Formats: sequence, C-alpha cells, structure tokens
Amino acid sequence: MARILYGKEFAARIKASAEHGALLLRERGIHPRLAVIIVGNDPASEVYVRNKQKTCAELDILSDHIALPAETTREDLLARIDALNADASVHGILVQLPLPAALAAHEDEILSRIDPRKDVDGFHPMNVGHLSIGAPGLRPCTPAGCIRMLEYAGIPIEGKHAVIIGRSNIVGKPMGMLLLERHATVTLCHSRTENLAEIAREADILVAAVGQPHFVTADMVKPGATVIDVGINRIAPKKLVGDVDFEAVEKVAGAITPVPGGVGLLTVAMLMENVVQAAAAQTA
Ligand code: GUN
Repeated sequence: MARILYGKEFAARIKASAEHGALLLRERGIHPRLAVIIVGNDPASEVYVRNKQKTCAELDILSDHIALPAETTREDLLARIDALNADASVHGILVQLPLPAALAAHEDEILSRIDPRKDVDGFHPMNVGHLSIGAPGLRPCTPAGCIRMLEYAGIPIEGKHAVIIGRSNIVGKPMGMLLLERHATVTLCHSRTENLAEIAREADILVAAVGQPHFVTADMVKPGATVIDVGINRIAPKKLVGDVDFEAVEKVAGAITPVPGGVGLLTVAMLMENVVQAAAAQTA
C-alpha cells in the first residue's frame, strides 16, 4: 500500500515558515496584508476565500475581503485593483477565479492589471515569464505547494520522469516549469494526447489536474510511483473526489495524495508564503 501524503502535515510546515517570515516583518513594523477580491457568489469560491481569510488570521497576516456583486463591470474591477496597487499597506492582491461570465472574457486584462510585485497567485504574465526563464518571482500556489510537499517528503525530483495530465495556466503548465526547474524530465499531457495511459505508466511522479473523477486508474500508474491528485470534483452535495481512483491506485503507487485532505491545503499555505515573500520584497 502506498504512503499517503496528507496535506495537513506538509501545510503545517509551510505555514510555520510563513508565520516565521511574517513575524520577522512585524518586528520591522511591517504587517503583511492580503486583499482578496471575490466577484459574485460561486459557492466553491466562497469556501476557498473563507479558508484563505481563516489561514491569514491564524498566521497574524492581515486580510481584506472585498466582495463585489456579480454585475460588477470591468471598469469597476480594474479601478479596485488600481486602488489596491497604489496602497502601500497592501502587499498581496488576489482575484478569486472563476469570474462571472461577463468579466471572465476580460480575465487576462484583469489579472495583468495587478502589480506583479503584489501578484500572490503568480498569474501575471510577468511572473509567468519569470518562472519560464528561471528568474525569481511569485510562483503559482498549487504547483509550488506540490513541489514543497515532495521536498519535505524526501521524494526525489532530479532526473525523474514527471508526467502531468492537464495543461491549465493555474496548475499544469506552471507545474511543468517548476518540475523542470528542479531537473525532472517533464511530459505535459492533455485531452488530445495519444496513448495517455502508456505515457502515464512511465511516470515516476504523476500529477493529475484534469477535473474528471476517477480519470487516473490503477493501470495508468507504474508500481511505486508518486501520484499527486490536484483534482477537486464534487460528485454529490457533500462528496468531493479527486481525479485519481484512490482506492485502486493506492495499491500500486509508492505515495499518493488524498482528496480531500491533500493538495488543497498546500495551496492556501503557499499563498501565505507568497504574501510574506511579496511583503518582504516590497519593503526591502
Ligand atoms: N480558483 C481556483 N484556484 C484558484 C487559485 O489558485 N487562485 C485564484 N485566484 N482563484 C482560484
């Protein structure tokens, strides 16, 4: 049976590191502060945002919750971002995704409006570019959290074959870049990949970020591989599952993250680390 990589244990270590960083800043009179903008009332987003606020409070990081109505215009949202960019007491700005349909059409413009130094999601093209050339910058929280977990768990990355299923800007693509930065051999698969199961079976590290329950089955996993499940799929009102058929895959894998209780916790913890990093860089 696989070793189960519980997010809680690794998130606690990341949060302890962020908490220490926040403490050092407060000793210099700087109180790290995150502004979270949520537009409309997507129930899942509301849960995520509440978690972010709660974790900020735990670590004594200030957080502003800016809830805007679903009818908010592009101009209004951009003006909000401009005001937060100009406010030196705010170190991190996060616009919760997905945006309502009318605004989603302007998502690139909206995310690009955030001052890259305050872009704690790491979604600004400047930070994406920094990641792709290996320059310092703010990294997307979910993939960065997964890398930290592998490091804390003592799972080697260098020289290993990492296969990622999913090519989103939030997870798949940055995950590939981060693994490459740590000297993995990276294969990025997606919905049009041929022979996906065969490719997946070659992975030492298999990352599933597809958004389909039970997408990764036991026959797609090499015995002993590390399986990271980034999926969060609601299959019933109170039932969340990942992209991996956990019960079957845990019998084959060497290590596996559960859902819930896996990668989700790392994302929030890494966000705290990014807020502290952003605050430190802005006040250096
Ligand atoms: N929605 C789902 N994941 C994320 C994330 O990492 N950041 C933001 N801003 N919205 C999300």
